Amino acid sequence: GADARDEDPRPGGPADSPFVRACRRQPGPHTPVWFMRQAGRSLPEYRAIRANVGMLESCRRPDLVTEITLQPVRRHAVDAAILFSDIVVPVAAAGVDLDIVPGTGPVVAEPVRTLTDVERIRPITRDDVSYVDEAVRMLVAELGDTPLIGFAGAPFTLASYLVEGGPSRTHAKTKALMYGQPELWHALCGRLAEVTLAFLRVQVAAGVSAVQLFDSWAGALSEADYRRFVLPHSAGVLAGLADAGVPRIHFGVGTGELLTAMGEAGADVVGVDWRTPLDVATGRIGPDRAVQGNLDPCVLFAPWPVVEAEVRRILEQGRAAPGHVFNLGHGVLPETDPDVLTRVVALVHELSAQSGDR
Ligand code: CP3
Repeated sequence: GADARDEDPRPGGPADSPFVRACRRQPGPHTPVWFMRQAGRSLPEYRAIRANVGMLESCRRPDLVTEITLQPVRRHAVDAAILFSDIVVPVAAAGVDLDIVPGTGPVVAEPVRTLTDVERIRPITRDDVSYVDEAVRMLVAELGDTPLIGFAGAPFTLASYLVEGGPSRTHAKTKALMYGQPELWHALCGRLAEVTLAFLRVQVAAGVSAVQLFDSWAGALSEADYRRFVLPHSAGVLAGLADAGVPRIHFGVGTGELLTAMGEAGADVVGVDWRTPLDVATGRIGPDRAVQGNLDPCVLFAPWPVVEAEVRRILEQGRAAPGHVFNLGHGVLPETDPDVLTRVVALVHELSAQSGDR
């Protein structure tokens, strides 16, 4: 067909890697594994590089982005790299005054309250994020056959930071706007979906082998509200990438009740946190999408025999899925011993290669 994904990839190249094959529900030599937040504070080499550079500044320097992205690939031999950036990078490029505060996360100077605030979020082009374009090109050249994952934040999770002004446990202001001013809500999410899609298309044009749309906080919503207020906007982003020829992953935390709807939003792979076993998740998502997950990041603090048993259980339950990418159920915590991550990668590879059907 005319679809880029039907073309035969170069054998052994990133588009034929175990990771991309699993995303496409094709068999491979082993179950691929990478970790959300694999580049970050768990690594001493990351802390060294970031010692005197602010988070947003580091995201805007292609040399630093390249080095930080490569660190976990060298150390752990993961099956994919993920671009070092943050979900608020394109929002800052769109003109929103914000910072990423150590130990807190994104903080927005003037939270969004009105339609004028929404219209101040400018649509972005490649030139607004040229440093990302450059970093991706450098990384693709360095990585060879290892695929690079691009990513962006989904409209709900971005909207939460913009409306709350920072991280929130309840998302109370966000929900107040959503329920109280639905037209303003849809205008905001529509604009954020545009920015997100443009940001992801820049990454695809520069050569990423897959994209992940993070809707980390969508689990705060009921399924009915997710379908009404969020799904159409996320579906717009994912549909805008349908011709991009790369697998699309869609992830959120606490989304057990939303997995069916999140699958319908149009991704090729649905990320699952540790609360829902992968066989149960597959029952909810259906046979047409692969799953990604779902080791509890806190299990990495347990004695190794516990870690090993959990990895075995997840690989077993992942066999019910039409494709499985091993990952954590959420990001690596900063206190994690990186040597445990390295051992998990080796164990996933060893156990899944033995079972021989992936
Ligand atoms: O996964 C990777 O290795 C790629 C890098 C990446 C970062 N942020 C780097 C980062 C990715 C994929 C993100 C996405 C992101 N950012 C999400 C979605 C994923 C998720 O965890 O749910 C969200 C919600 C954010 C917003 C954000 N940015 C938070 C909550 C934080 C942590 C605040 C803190 O200090 O604990 C950030 C900052 C951030 N983004 C750091 C990193 C490595 C830490 C900053 C530092 O090292 O000083």
